[in-house]
Amino acid sequence: MQSVRTDVAALVDDDPRKHAFRVHRDAYVDQGVFELEIDRFFHHGWVYAAHESQLPAAASFVSTTLGRQPVLITRGSDGQLRGFFNRCRHRGAVVCKERQGQSDNFRCPYHGWSFKGDGSLAGLPGPDGYGADFPRAEMGLVPVAELASYRGFIFVSLARPDVDLQTHLGQARVFLDRLCDQRPQGLSVVPGTTRYGFDANWKLQIENALDFYHLPVVHRSFFEIKRARGESGKMTVRDFATDQCVALERGHGTVLASDANGHVHQHLFIFPNLVILENPAPQLRVIFPQRVDRTEIEGLAFFSADAGEAERSRLLGLYERFYGPMGFGTPDDIEIFRACMNGFMAEAAPWNDFSRGYHRELDHLPNGDAAAVMACGNITDETFVRGLYRWWMNALRDVRA
Ligand code: FES
Ligand SMILES: [Fe+2]
Repeated sequence: MQSVRTDVAALVDDDPRKHAFRVHRDAYVDQGVFELEIDRFFHHGWVYAAHESQLPAAASFVSTTLGRQPVLITRGSDGQLRGFFNRCRHRGAVVCKERQGQSDNFRCPYHGWSFKGDGSLAGLPGPDGYGADFPRAEMGLVPVAELASYRGFIFVSLARPDVDLQTHLGQARVFLDRLCDQRPQGLSVVPGTTRYGFDANWKLQIENALDFYHLPVVHRSFFEIKRARGESGKMTVRDFATDQCVALERGHGTVLASDANGHVHQHLFIFPNLVILENPAPQLRVIFPQRVDRTEIEGLAFFSADAGEAERSRLLGLYERFYGPMGFGTPDDIEIFRACMNGFMAEAAPWNDFSRGYHRELDHLPNGDAAAVMACGNITDETFVRGLYRWWMNALRDVRA
């Protein structure tokens, strides 16, 4: 275990006059920093939990883990969405081990207490073992502090949050709206996930998901195969000259990449754990930090709810080609995460440089786009990462104060 260092303000070195921005290795390897992150962001802030299309009908559920805490999202027989700690009120076992399904009854695997989708205790074996003073009506599942949904995306705050969900999403709402407006029938998340893990810090995945600078290098084989097949598309840093990387308030961000038809694809990051990728195939990527040097990822394919069979199978093919276990994207990125963690062991060279594009950063989007942003740069710039770490540092520093 690394030494515990929690002076997070010293881990971000931002010098606007020199257009210099650095992040210290302890942000990625320090156990104390990791504990702060889990506590502040995952146990006391808004966290993405599920998509409504995964709970399509009454009596459906999704279970997940937010930080270290097990959570059960239900749509009860009354159709209402609710969130609970997935923890039996008897002696603590999780009451639902399935990831997703249809049920309005959750039977604890230990002694068989069962709970309804509205959280209430439905029954227990041998009820005569409890006296008249047993507070049965109060022994339902414990609800999370807040559950709220925006455009079908369900967010949970396990403890009372400092702001409401709309405020938390802030400037990112406009970009999430744009993504949803392109699919007016709504989004449909495909059952089944691509789940994988890697031995590296969770923030490497965030940085990487909106990083177009690495594409021609790390994913060279992907582009070479595209070229060999005669496929078109942007493949070099120069090809991305007119695309944007955008920092949004509260650590969110997006990239805006236009294709040959002028259609704009986003990789939208909602802090702290959701990336919505539109290209090369639509994917929801959910980040689960496990330890300071261990992260798990869940990838879910999604379509426009009205997509036909042919379109679904075309997109699933593209999804598998890049994100799948045998795909060209994910294994290469994971290799790089490990290379970074190994490099971070060099204690005498502790700084990562994120100054790319600082000198040419704008405080607005180009082409008259009026959406409010914190900063905008070229898509190969590190504009988003600077916004991410400014928010990260300020939010963690507040915890300590
Ligand atoms: S722990 Fe759940 S029934 Fe005993
Ligand atoms: Fe990548």
